[in-house]
Amino acid sequence: MITHDGDAFHLFTNHTSYYFRITKFGHLEQLYYGKRLAAPSPESLELKRTAQVGSAVMYDEADPYYCLDILPLEWSGIGKGDFRQSPAEIKMPDGTFVSDFVFVSHEILSGTSEMSSLPAATGEKSECMTLHIQMKDRMADLFLHLYYTVFSDTDVITRRTVLENKDEKPAVIRKLMSFMLDLFPAEYTITTFHGAWIKEMHRQCAPVGNGLYVVQSTTGTSSNRQNPGFFLAEKSASEEYGKVYGFNLVYSGNHYSGIERTHQGLVRVVSGINPHCFEWTLEKDGKFETPEAIMTFSDSGFNGASGNFHDFINRHIVRGDWKNMERPVLFNTWESCFMNFRRGTLLRMARRAKDLGVELFVLDDGWFAGRNSDHAGLGDYTPDKKKLPHGLGDLAKRIVKMGLRFGIWIEPEMVNYDSDLFRSHPEYAVRITGRKESLGRNQLVLDLTNPTVRDYIAGSVSDLLDSAEISYVKWDMNRHMTDMFGSELHGQGEFYHRYVIGLYDVMTRIFRGRPHVLLETCSSGGNRFDLGMLCFSPQIWASDNTDPIERLSIQGGLSYLYPLSSIGAHVSSSPHQQTIRDTPLSTRFNVACFGVLGYELDPKYLTRTEKKDIRQQIKFYKEHRRLFQYGDFSRHETSKGNKLSWQVVSADQNSSVSGFFASQGHASEAPDLLPVSGIAPEQTYRVSTLPRRLNVKMFGLLINHILPIKINPNGFIFRLIDRFYSLTDCVEEYTANGDQLMQGIRLNNPFIGTYYNSRTRLVGDYGSYLYLFSRISSRNPSDSKQGGHHEG
Ligand code: DGJ
Repeated sequence: MITHDGDAFHLFTNHTSYYFRITKFGHLEQLYYGKRLAAPSPESLELKRTAQVGSAVMYDEADPYYCLDILPLEWSGIGKGDFRQSPAEIKMPDGTFVSDFVFVSHEILSGTSEMSSLPAATGEKSECMTLHIQMKDRMADLFLHLYYTVFSDTDVITRRTVLENKDEKPAVIRKLMSFMLDLFPAEYTITTFHGAWIKEMHRQCAPVGNGLYVVQSTTGTSSNRQNPGFFLAEKSASEEYGKVYGFNLVYSGNHYSGIERTHQGLVRVVSGINPHCFEWTLEKDGKFETPEAIMTFSDSGFNGASGNFHDFINRHIVRGDWKNMERPVLFNTWESCFMNFRRGTLLRMARRAKDLGVELFVLDDGWFAGRNSDHAGLGDYTPDKKKLPHGLGDLAKRIVKMGLRFGIWIEPEMVNYDSDLFRSHPEYAVRITGRKESLGRNQLVLDLTNPTVRDYIAGSVSDLLDSAEISYVKWDMNRHMTDMFGSELHGQGEFYHRYVIGLYDVMTRIFRGRPHVLLETCSSGGNRFDLGMLCFSPQIWASDNTDPIERLSIQGGLSYLYPLSSIGAHVSSSPHQQTIRDTPLSTRFNVACFGVLGYELDPKYLTRTEKKDIRQQIKFYKEHRRLFQYGDFSRHETSKGNKLSWQVVSADQNSSVSGFFASQGHASEAPDLLPVSGIAPEQTYRVSTLPRRLNVKMFGLLINHILPIKINPNGFIFRLIDRFYSLTDCVEEYTANGDQLMQGIRLNNPFIGTYYNSRTRLVGDYGSYLYLFSRISSRNPSDSKQGGHHEG
């Protein structure tokens, strides 16, 4: 995994190589990152330095061709001729900003390297190796430690940096990135993930031109505005093909990534804590560690890079009892009753949810004293006496007795003015004396940079969790940070980062001793969907938007960086509360099942057919839960702008499910092709559509064309029929070898206006299908019988 030959280091995973060397002046020169090489040597890989570039500053007159500005490097300082963005900006002990770190020593360790304040990837000694390189500034007693951990099994290399001051005088860090990487000249595209509340993780792809492209957050969280994860890919890369580099950070606070292309075509990538309002003084013997960053490379397109990230997160980021465990199907109270409920309502709801097949009942916001609106109550987690007269313990007991697990919502990082906590400890809130603070969702942030506040939160939440049979927690965080001030801090430039360290500390103290508790973090939906959180919570609520068509973008975006096992996805009622879009129940499920499934609707109002459908959905999900949560996932491009497809394949390739989703339908559509990949070419599979029910009401007056009698499409009889009767859409079945199926399955005709029979797919707007693939045998290619095509 790591070899050292002369001045060169070769870090390799199962399919990738990362190669760099020490130059004669002690800098680290990047030579190659890409497909695995058997035994690399520098000669054909190095960027040649045989001519002097105009306007360049030469590092040392001993070599007229040695110019840092055009060298691909692993790290670079300031003030020695490299004018690209620097990974560090340090006010040095001598008061200048000039730094020049050069190689001192290295060591190769088995396993990972321990971090002191931040979460990081885990791995057994047999699974990974770490290269630790020590560098020193040429003048000051400042040491820079670069750590590279190589995870062969998932083609991921992690990187991080530690700065250590052994100088008598302090150094002030204004910027210290987790890594720097210079990629060789090529035409790259950058893929980033942007959004806002209820439109998280929308993918954006743009060519990397000359100049600086920044991916960052300044909200105090990793944020829904720009996720810290991104990709650089060769121009022609697609989901299936091409070279793709992926990057992400194990960090939940303000992040910064800068992607800079110079006129020479070199592309520099730096990533780490955002320098925005950041300043950290390192006294003598002080150390500062940056978050761990992760990098991957795949020459199998975006799906290849995503697959590496998925495996890496499932194996090396998620930890504790829920690692690699199937997650329960949950029912959440939020969208059905918000804060307006009574004990009886909850118990009836839980009974109905249980009857549908749900396994975990989650009591969302509104259960504690004063919490009838979002103006009050945060900070005081004592059960509301009117809503829960017998307390939380009693409710939990009753729900557990029904055969369900019980979980609660909390927002421990926040406080309302109207709360006992604020009345007794106004100093716990983040605000600046003398300056009027700004509120978000009518609440203030608690000062997690203050150890007293952390003790309070860790103690009170721990007591709460022990007060009832709670086996799940939804940890919410509903505002961006403003008025940043920590009363216990040495300098306010530490605020944001100390907050994140404080948050990790509190979460560790609460959940380390309660590993059975399934934690799902949330921040107004996906405002903090990052690898730092995934070190604590195996799953994250993806978005408050549960409209399945919107979720195709949101969950689809998340799937580039995060595994399906981490994505909370719920079926809610229709029309949707944020988009007013009416979608079939089947589509709501077909999208939510590509994640950790939940339901968030009022079961009281479900029709008999809807209940029947939901029971079948949950049964189907449970049967294929491992596949949906841990299968190999791919996104497929279809030839049409209004269709897309997702697919999961089991590790043993015995089964697979494809989802085929339509946004708005068009008249007289061309035939559809279901793209398929990842199954075994030599094996035979039976493919069949999961039957989907169609509401009678969706056909309106058209129903009279197929009924023996004429009925009023707005009348009572029609509504009654709709409650108790539904139609089934066309079911297709195919049996064929994997190699043939992977050419794409030509699906039955969609309804195109002139003709209908039971073999017509009634896709319409927002229609979708699940196709289940089951391996039935191993077929010898010489067995000439072709796969049949039976239309149901
Ligand atoms: C925001 C979350 O995303 C919702 O799911 C819900 O828990 C509310 N907060 C409750 O206030």
